[in-house]
Amino acid sequence: PHNARVAVMGASGGIGQPLALLLKESPLVTQLALYDIVHVTPGVAKDLSHICTKAQVTGYMGPETMQDCLTGCDVVMIPAGVPRKPGMSRDDLFNTNASIVRDIADAAAQYCPQAMMCIITNPVNSTVPIASEVFKKRGVYDPNRIFGVTTLDIVRANAFIAEAKGLDPTKVKVPVIGGHSGVTIIPVISQATPGVSFKQEEREKITKRIQNAGTEVVEAKAGGGSATLSMAYAGAQFAFSLLQAMNGKEGVVECAYVKSDETDAKYFSTPLQLGPSGMLDNLGIGHLTEFEMNLLRNAMPELKDNIQKGEDFILKQAE
Ligand code: APR
Repeated sequence: PHNARVAVMGASGGIGQPLALLLKESPLVTQLALYDIVHVTPGVAKDLSHICTKAQVTGYMGPETMQDCLTGCDVVMIPAGVPRKPGMSRDDLFNTNASIVRDIADAAAQYCPQAMMCIITNPVNSTVPIASEVFKKRGVYDPNRIFGVTTLDIVRANAFIAEAKGLDPTKVKVPVIGGHSGVTIIPVISQATPGVSFKQEEREKITKRIQNAGTEVVEAKAGGGSATLSMAYAGAQFAFSLLQAMNGKEGVVECAYVKSDETDAKYFSTPLQLGPSGMLDNLGIGHLTEFEMNLLRNAMPELKDNIQKGEDFILKQAE
């Protein structure tokens, strides 16, 4: 759509605000709908509305405004939730964030069932299955339109590998597949462009750094939350790719966590070709080295558990 309405659910938060700012700067966005439950939300919208770019900004505060917010949306970005504190894993966030994503997905399934759903709220490995089950229950499920945003893993892999090899960070592209937490994150360094080579020890170290990069930020913020600015950057990059593809641009590829037949986990992130109706084609895992095959084997049990936990959260409520 050349007139894209984009919602940010959780717009007043650490991720939501800079994400909204980046979206406000984009010529691809004509309406920016900012939803949150905190009282500063109309002010955040007012503040952004003073920027002299095309997008019209409207703030929506509280659950009774969700219908107005979501109606007509083409893309829904969801960073609503509580962030991680030191010592917490992404999975510890589960109970609070699972309900938040369930409720927002349920409203989206009613008021903008055709929208692209971009889920940032962690644990993404579980919140994407949650949103998917909610859409199924409402009879409007389209697996090509529900994405877990894993772009930050790719952004980090690009940055760390560029740094290690002295390359231009804007020119390095490293696919990252699997899930979005710890060992489920699988950097595929062998498929990086330009090609890079590492000694085994160095490869293991940088792989671990990519897998634990979220924790690096959580610890450095010392109780003040998890990654926000880099996540907002990554979320905006994903949204822009999606909007370009929705506008007919061909050959747009991004990794994201989606319903997938690539492995025996029901959801898996791989490079995807994006099109006017979301995922056009899953480009698959491609060739993995023995080292990467081991990462994949290592990822599967936790990833499958996370997915099951998400599905059970909705299915148990149905009983
Ligand atoms: N509906 C809408 N917004 C909500 C809801 C809800 N039910 N519950 C909480 N929020 C809002 C909060 O009011 C807050 O403005 O979500 C925002 C979250 O912002 P922060 O607390 O600053 O958290 P942030 O760092 O942005 O992280 C949010 O993204 O990466 C994930 O793990 C992270 O799950 C966490 C989420």
